[in-house]
Amino acid sequence: METNKIYLGDCIEIMRTFPDKSVDLIFADPPFNIGIKYDVHNDNMSYEDYYNWSEKWIKETYRLLKNNGSIYIAIGDEFAAEINIILKRTGFYYRNWIIWYYTFGQNQRKKFNRSHTHILYFTKNKERFIFNDKIIRIPSARQLIYKDKRANPLGKIPDDVWQFSRVCGTFKERIGKHPCQMPEDLLELIIKTSSKEGNLVLDPFGGTGTTVAVAKRLKRKFITIEISSEYYNIILSRLNGNIEDIKRNKKNDIEQQKNLFDCI
Ligand SMILES: C[S@@+](CC[C@H](N)C(=O)[O-])C[C@H]1O[C@@H](n2cnc3c(N)ncnc32)[C@H](O)[C@@H]1O
Repeated sequence: METNKIYLGDCIEIMRTFPDKSVDLIFADPPFNIGIKYDVHNDNMSYEDYYNWSEKWIKETYRLLKNNGSIYIAIGDEFAAEINIILKRTGFYYRNWIIWYYTFGQNQRKKFNRSHTHILYFTKNKERFIFNDKIIRIPSARQLIYKDKRANPLGKIPDDVWQFSRVCGTFKERIGKHPCQMPEDLLELIIKTSSKEGNLVLDPFGGTGTTVAVAKRLKRKFITIEISSEYYNIILSRLNGNIEDIKRNKKNDIEQQKNLFDCI
């Protein structure tokens, strides 16, 4: 297993080649099976196929995580309940069901606009895991509004509803023509909370490489896996700091945004 590396291929096959208990933190943002048009992956599997596939890759993450490791999985409404059950049945311990509330959600035609994603946070051990609470504390209402003497001067741990803007097509942060880029701030919160410098962070579904870009910036070791060679090349350029090259190739971006609107 080589660290600080992007692997091109199927995440289940590649994870199977990695040793047991070798990873400190896993963040996974799998395809949600809602018909998004990816380069290679079919995002329209049958219910059974998606469930069985999810079970397979989640089992691999369990084998790879160290005993004090943590896993966060981003998932849409459609399969959040199922992924929660798979995580529990695999042996993970539940910590939080986080809601990422985002502004700039996708407008819908005949239902309310989608403006959140679930982030399921689990650990391998019930008691022993990394949770760097001092680094992530924020000022509390007791401190800011009520000036309450009992307020913890270090602030409070953030709530389990997080607000970050989605990374839309026109945003500066957006790189490459990928339909689902995550915001770096969200990954920064997760990586700072559940890992230390030098730890190994794994993301089995690379996309545009948000997880590994943030892990690298925060001095963590990283591995990601991506099945599409087009997206793999985006991640390579992003890690090498050649974001402008990727942006120049963004010509189909508007079409991608339209696809996203149509299929969700
Ligand atoms: C929701 S996106 C991840 C986006 C990523 N979090 C980001 O910020 O850019 C899911 C990614 O998983 C990739 N993928 C789908 N099936 C895969 C598989 N079996 N192995 C590896 N990657 C896969 C897709 O090509 C897609 O880029």
